[in-house]
Amino acid sequence: MAGWHLSRNKMLFFSCALFITLAVCVHLTPYFPSVSSMLSSSSSSSSMVNLDSCISLLHQVAFNFQELNNENCSVENTVRSSSDKSWKWIESEPVVQCDFQKLSKSHASDLFNGSWVVVAGDSQARLFVVSLLELLLGESEMEMIRGDLFKRHSDYNILIDEIGMKLDFIWAPYVSNLTDLVLGFEEKKSYPDVFVIGTGLWDMLHINNATDYGVSLKLLRDLVVLLLPVPSDFVNDGAGMNLVSVRSPNFFWLGMPKLINSMLNTDEKRKKMTDVMWQAYTDELYSSKLLQQSGGPLLLLDIHALSNNCGAHCTTDGMHYHGVVYEAAVHVMLNGLLIKSNQKL
Ligand SMILES: *[C@@H]1O[C@H](CO)[C@@H](O)[C@H](O)[C@H]1NC(C)=O
Ligand SMILES: *[C@@H]1O[C@H](CO)[C@@H](O)[C@H](O)[C@H]1NC(C)=O
Ligand SMILES: *[C@@H]1O[C@H](CO)[C@@H](O)[C@H](O)[C@H]1NC(C)=O
Ligand SMILES: *[C@@H]1O[C@H](CO)[C@@H](O)[C@H](O)[C@H]1NC(C)=O
Repeated sequence: MAGWHLSRNKMLFFSCALFITLAVCVHLTPYFPSVSSMLSSSSSSSSMVNLDSCISLLHQVAFNFQELNNENCSVENTVRSSSDKSWKWIESEPVVQCDFQKLSKSHASDLFNGSWVVVAGDSQARLFVVSLLELLLGESEMEMIRGDLFKRHSDYNILIDEIGMKLDFIWAPYVSNLTDLVLGFEEKKSYPDVFVIGTGLWDMLHINNATDYGVSLKLLRDLVVLLLPVPSDFVNDGAGMNLVSVRSPNFFWLGMPKLINSMLNTDEKRKKMTDVMWQAYTDELYSSKLLQQSGGPLLLLDIHALSNNCGAHCTTDGMHYHGVVYEAAVHVMLNGLLIKSNQKL
């Protein structure tokens, strides 16, 4: 369902340049019978903006704390203005050319209309869901459900009626929990349109063995790859390209945040969640080939880059960051979806 919506809606949001690129490849290819040739001609004709390089620039954002540094430094005021923290994409030329956009509530609603979104992982994933729902529901409606969403270690499901969107948050602190989830999709032959997963912190604290973490990531990778459409899945209805029925699952990996060891709130955390251990876990993530950067299926939502960029004053416990970090991650994902839906054409 959403595959179609995501493809269709790129028209609504994407820059003129991309639009022209797409129009060009549609005109170039009316006689090619298969989508795969369309795919290849599409990639060879996207000379105006390089989509792959835009993917790599998605995390080039800056956070703004002006409000915190104004002359009024009363605690009350700091707390209030901290919710005014903002972020934007930096204005370097390559980033500007990609024309990334913060989607409004109505654009995001249109993009997700009729789709099924699953976010699974630990507290980072929960915070990501909060930001996504804040965008889709607005902050006041979000306040009403915040309690349910934050029940410790529980799942959360919501159907947003107006846009027929189903969102499931699944508490999945270990990689094995993600693996079980993927196996469940395969068994039921029912897959979400957008799938955001990520674990690591919990494993680091309670198991603290990067090698084992890497082994389970590789297993997860092999299963996720099975969910991906292979070229033969592209449907040709005889009369022409039938892109409508092409499934286009969109998979993301939610990375671990920057850990600030001295701020972690228990001795156990400070002892186990060190920079060295973080690096070992991250190395395993890359060598598992789960991420697109290493030829895998998942696009990284780089919470580490974003949280590191926001800095120590964006966290009180060295691990969970201010909502502005996850808000940026949501918009990175949305722009990633838009780019990917263009590439699929
Ligand atoms: C500083 O903040 C306090 C409390 O919000 C307010 O009463 C006061 O007028 C502010 N002062 C300035 C100079 O903005
Ligand atoms: C969602 O899509 C349906 C069918 O395409 C449409 O009728 C409806 O107006 C859309 N809703 C929103 C909020 O975009
Ligand atoms: C996650 O996996 C762990 C270890 O395999 C298991 O003990 C736990 O019950 C699972 N949790 C959920 C919510 O499935
Ligand atoms: C991690 O687990 C493996 C077995 O799964 C074990 O061989 C290895 O010694 C463990 N590493 C550490 C540092 O405990």
